[in-house]
Amino acid sequence: MNAIVSRNTVEQIVAYRDKALELFGVAHAKIEEAHEAELAAIDMAKRAFPRTNAYNAAYEVDTRRALHPLSRSPLDDYMREKRHIIDLNVWAWVVSHTELEHLMDRQAKDQLREQMSHIIEEPTEPGQLITEEQAAKGMPPVTVENVLATLEQFMMDADMIFRRGMANAFAKLDRRFRSHNGFKVGARVILTRCFNDYGSWNWSSHKDERSTLIDIERTFTILDGKLNEVRKQDEENEAARRQKRPADYFTKTIGEIDLARHGQTGARQTEVETEYFNVRIFKNGNAHLWFTRKDLVAKVNKLIGEYYGEVLADGRKVDDDPLSPEKAKTAPARYFGFYPTPAAAAQRILRNSPVWHRLKESDRLKILEPSAGTGNLAVACYPDYEKSWDQERYRVDHVVDCIEIQPHLIPDLKARKLGRVFNADFISIEPETTGLYDLVVMNPPFDRERDIDHVVHALKFLKPDGKLIAIMSAGTEFRQTHKSVAFRQLMEDMGARWEDLPPNSFSSVGTNVNTGFITVSKNGKKRDRYDWPTWHKID
Ligand SMILES: C[S@@+](CC[C@H](N)C(=O)[O-])C[C@H]1O[C@@H](n2cnc3c(N)ncnc32)[C@H](O)[C@@H]1O
Repeated sequence: MNAIVSRNTVEQIVAYRDKALELFGVAHAKIEEAHEAELAAIDMAKRAFPRTNAYNAAYEVDTRRALHPLSRSPLDDYMREKRHIIDLNVWAWVVSHTELEHLMDRQAKDQLREQMSHIIEEPTEPGQLITEEQAAKGMPPVTVENVLATLEQFMMDADMIFRRGMANAFAKLDRRFRSHNGFKVGARVILTRCFNDYGSWNWSSHKDERSTLIDIERTFTILDGKLNEVRKQDEENEAARRQKRPADYFTKTIGEIDLARHGQTGARQTEVETEYFNVRIFKNGNAHLWFTRKDLVAKVNKLIGEYYGEVLADGRKVDDDPLSPEKAKTAPARYFGFYPTPAAAAQRILRNSPVWHRLKESDRLKILEPSAGTGNLAVACYPDYEKSWDQERYRVDHVVDCIEIQPHLIPDLKARKLGRVFNADFISIEPETTGLYDLVVMNPPFDRERDIDHVVHALKFLKPDGKLIAIMSAGTEFRQTHKSVAFRQLMEDMGARWEDLPPNSFSSVGTNVNTGFITVSKNGKKRDRYDWPTWHKID
């Protein structure tokens, strides 16, 4: 990315900003002076007529208003307000002159906008430091060094920001893009209810396919080496925004669709072909989309793969029963697939689990964590009730047995005193060694579909009414290998439920891989054909 803003320009901008603040300081002194003069004038006027009487009572309000000094704020507040507003605007100006502006998707822009709505106050005392936490929340004060450092950081992040935006946009377009091996070049994407019953774009806030399409087209345009077109479009949008015309992120495909549907009303069919898409819109409001540039789709798949990391390498093809124990991977995962579960993700998967609200009268739960790592997920099995009446009413003392293959993690796991700790390869342990459990919670290694091996093996450790909750790679939901297809069938038969974890749930531990989690009961066979489907159907 190019920083179009040179050091000279930054120095000039900062000099103007500093001078403006200096002049505001002067202005405040003058306002103070004017205030003193106003108070003296009011005092003199009041000596001329101490109070109103029956002859001028009608002017009482006007008199009070005229003889009231103009409001003003103390120097500190006055300066803080000016500095804040100037810095916000300077940052917006500087950022809008970088290429980052054109590489960011809507989410990245929203995040930056949010960040830019906070300016960290300059230290008020000598030696006072801005904490990292503060710095993460907002933009630093405008100084030459801060602006240059921030621009440099942006340049370093630009590639990652672009890839993240791209991964998010494609995952929103079609669930199969949540994993880099889910989407096959040439497949069709279905945008459901893209148009409403009246044939207009469906603007519902949770399903804005139109904006997603715009993000996708931007991505293709950039990958096609036409950043200039994106820049021009951004400038047009900005001009429209300034002139208070609808700044509608107008793009070629949306434009073509609008043109093709113009002048008619009601549900109708339309077909358009643009540089990157072939779109067929049906009367039911669904749009079917084909990507016409296979080279760009291949690029997207590759970039998404790199963004998500290699933990989800392709699974091998297997015959017979792909879930049979003999077919399970026996060698440990690369680097053991060590990605400790961040607290938010652990809380999310356990939110509706039996670890919460287990009455004191019931037995404590026997829980197994079969790939325990540092114990993040195991520890999250201890409910953390805020209210003392909850603590009195519900159990907080479940037993969590941990299995972990890496010996160096064992001492810390033991020190946590959660339950028994086994230093072993889970796949080679059988329930005869450990006993059966009410609950298995796990975040197994994902490498080459090992998560499936671990989950299938873990089902054996459940009591007849036991439950299993497992974080798995997003590809499990749609990967077309024999193993994944067979696993989905097994889960469907058992009435398992699949839920997504938010994108970037594991970014803090070094992987952008998308994940979800399954919840399945040992005895949870579907009862009849009226049961809710538990898996998204993706053709
Ligand atoms: C994705 S990490 C999750 C760690 C932990 N469950 C957590 O949530 O913080 C996977 C863990 O499984 C361990 N592991 C990998 N293969 C294993 C195996 N065959 N048996 C037991 N543990 C294994 C790794 O060492 C790593 O600690």
